Amino acid sequence: MSKKTYEDLMGALGRAVYFRPERRRARDIFSRNAGAAVAIGDETYALFDLSLNGLSFTCVTVPASWQPGKEISLAVVVRGQSAYRGRARIARVEPTGAGARVAVALTDGFVDVTRVLELDEDGQLDDDLGAGPEPVRARIPASYREAVERAVHLAQYYRRALARHEARQRHKGREGLERLEALTVRAADALRPRWRELEHAASRAALPLLADPAALRAAKEYTETMLTPLLIEAPMIRRSYTKPLGYPGDYQVMMYYYDNAFEGDSTFARVFHKFFVEHPLSNGVRTRKDLVRDLITSEQERFAELGGDQAHYRVTSLGCGPAREVAEYVARAAGWRGHITWTLIDQEEETLSVAFHDVHRHLARSASRGHISCLNLSFSQILQDPSVLDATEPQHLIFATGLFDYLREPRAQALLAALYQRLAPGGLVAIGNAKSPNLHFWSPEMILDWSLLYRTDEEMRRLGARLPEGAEIEVVLEPGEAYYFLLARKPA
Ligand SMILES: C[S@@+](CC[C@H](N)C(=O)[O-])C[C@H]1O[C@@H](n2cnc3c(N)ncnc32)[C@H](O)[C@@H]1O
Repeated sequence: MSKKTYEDLMGALGRAVYFRPERRRARDIFSRNAGAAVAIGDETYALFDLSLNGLSFTCVTVPASWQPGKEISLAVVVRGQSAYRGRARIARVEPTGAGARVAVALTDGFVDVTRVLELDEDGQLDDDLGAGPEPVRARIPASYREAVERAVHLAQYYRRALARHEARQRHKGREGLERLEALTVRAADALRPRWRELEHAASRAALPLLADPAALRAAKEYTETMLTPLLIEAPMIRRSYTKPLGYPGDYQVMMYYYDNAFEGDSTFARVFHKFFVEHPLSNGVRTRKDLVRDLITSEQERFAELGGDQAHYRVTSLGCGPAREVAEYVARAAGWRGHITWTLIDQEEETLSVAFHDVHRHLARSASRGHISCLNLSFSQILQDPSVLDATEPQHLIFATGLFDYLREPRAQALLAALYQRLAPGGLVAIGNAKSPNLHFWSPEMILDWSLLYRTDEEMRRLGARLPEGAEIEVVLEPGEAYYFLLARKPA
């Protein structure tokens, strides 16, 4: 499955302005054994990305003659076979930490990407049939296999039992259907402590694997083979695992969290859907939303104290998703002094539409003055060209939840510094991030293939390393204790 990282998500402007045949990262499209490489003369280099008419590769020592404009002959090699052979012109040589990345434009012919991928898939089939599951199994400690086996047994046992009781009720017609609701609640109550205990045991068994990438990969593959398919009928699990929009945590998943209901077509699916939206990280999504809603309130009151009825309070949410905290603020506030403008930014157009309609519905009923403006942008565009936000004036509160947990430290530090720059004097930036250490990473990481960068208190503080002197920094834990918040205030 090709998964996009949050850094790959470009927003509308990116797609419109920078359109070119899609460049796809080799690590995202090829299997581990593909050995995707570029052969030039007697040397081979690791392929970095590939499109119809161009590619780039990494190179430790770049020959002096490789200047932009120079023509070279090359071959793209996958699974030891030449998938393309032709001439190319060097477009760029970009230094990296370990040498350089060389980008070339193909000058005769094009790469048939579909065929190249097929070559790899055929090789993968040979691997799958030849090696079988034993190498994966052998890579995983017995304690982890036992934890997964217990989870598989529990899931199979209750799937069978609940299907039988569900069928019994369905046979009774209307009366039975009413009883299904009670069956679901009763089953959830009975299973909950067992499933939670099992999640903790599996997290503990998985902890040592976090330091061993090959074992972690094998354990993920094992869990996704053994357990995920048993749970996939639960809507939350299906959407989180299959990632239909290409990335985890899309707006539909966020809505599942916020609705926190029994959903699904069978009692078993409804129970497991609920367990996953009750998971500590999911519960924390709701409690962090409350924290942000309260921050919107307290900062508004603070600001209105100074500015009175003419005050124009400005709030930005980056990676806003459905913007539930804003909708709740507007719905709950009996009214506010002055004027509020919310700027909601997300790379996903569909989520902006959901957010806009939800917030707008409440604003239309409010007697207070408020305005909502949606920007279909990626944070990468903000980093590349901060002027894309010039139309928005300095902000009094900027927050991001469910975004920094995907960004490595240098990117996260740069983004925080860029957001801080957008603050008005006295303004506050609030960044949420999943907490480390914890004993709940197992379900998202291993069952859902949903990786987060969990951060310690110290790592949260380090995000502020590029803030100017004078920034007042604080790290707080939200009430659900699953997410830290870094709060950085600009001096007034
Ligand atoms: C996990 S959701 C969190 C949504 C919301 N903040 C919340 O807590 O309910 C992450 C959101 O970030 C958005 N996102 C991901 N990558 C982004 C990027 N590069 N630029 C802007 N938004 C991004 C996604 O579209 C998604 O709506």
